[in-house]
Amino acid sequence: MNFKKLDQYTELYGVLGNPVRHSLGPIMHNAAFSHKGINAVYLAFESNDIEGAVKGMRSLGIKGMSVTIPHKESVMPLLDEIDPLAREIGAVNTIVNENNKLTGYNTDATGALRALSDVIQVNGKLCVILGAGGAARAIGYILNKNSADLMIANRSAERGKALSSALNATFIRLEEVLDVEIDILINTTSVGMSPNTEFSPVSEDVLKPGMTVMDIIYNPGTTKLLHLASQKGCNIVNGLSMFINQGAEQFRLWTGKDAPVDVMKKVVEEYLYKR
Ligand code: ATR
Repeated sequence: MNFKKLDQYTELYGVLGNPVRHSLGPIMHNAAFSHKGINAVYLAFESNDIEGAVKGMRSLGIKGMSVTIPHKESVMPLLDEIDPLAREIGAVNTIVNENNKLTGYNTDATGALRALSDVIQVNGKLCVILGAGGAARAIGYILNKNSADLMIANRSAERGKALSSALNATFIRLEEVLDVEIDILINTTSVGMSPNTEFSPVSEDVLKPGMTVMDIIYNPGTTKLLHLASQKGCNIVNGLSMFINQGAEQFRLWTGKDAPVDVMKKVVEEYLYKR
């Protein structure tokens, strides 16, 4: 970051969550601000006090905030306006402060769609989402909206069925994934995440040449699932691609400018994989 330019006009952005010290937001957004010559900094705020944090954002004029676990839902009633997509998904990951009016957005879903769209158009495709948590909900919602055919496969049937009915999708058990002719397989579970990198959420028999396989895990960059998928001749989409795309959309909402995606990707890759 170019610290020399910090002065009385420097604007403040940040990420709000707990825990938050693992966040790559500061590295990514500060590189983007610096590259675009924008006089702003982005910091990590670790807090459980969501009400106090939103009040502070208003009183100090903090221009924008990423919101992460555990505040993505509880922040919603504290804002002045919620973008329709975030409202329908039921979670906010981005706040824009415009003259003290706070608007909540969700860029997780659009980030995932853009990452997928780099390799495949989703409409009419049979998509199987592994997992039924918040990430599965956001991704399922946007796939639905883009006319994909959706199935949810989850370990807990109760949770899987609840999400399936909310998304008008079909619920299947994890073992049943083998019987489905999948076009796009998306892992939203934590299986394979560092340090448990030797695990895959499905067996390699599920993976077929030409299938598109996406993992939202970005540490490691190539999960066991993606490793098996590329050996089988699948198209692969890694979690970093979704992370960068959701960040690029945040940058555009905050600054009105296109994000320097290549710069953001490079700095995050360097931090994650080349230390
Ligand atoms: P997020 O909100 O980030 O998506 P989450 O709400 O904790 O995270 O959801 C995690 C998902 O990963 C859940 O669907 C969970 O399955 P259960 O509903 O059965 O708990 C799934 N998951 C986590 N660990 C798993 C494992 N070892 N095997 C299969 N699924 C797992």
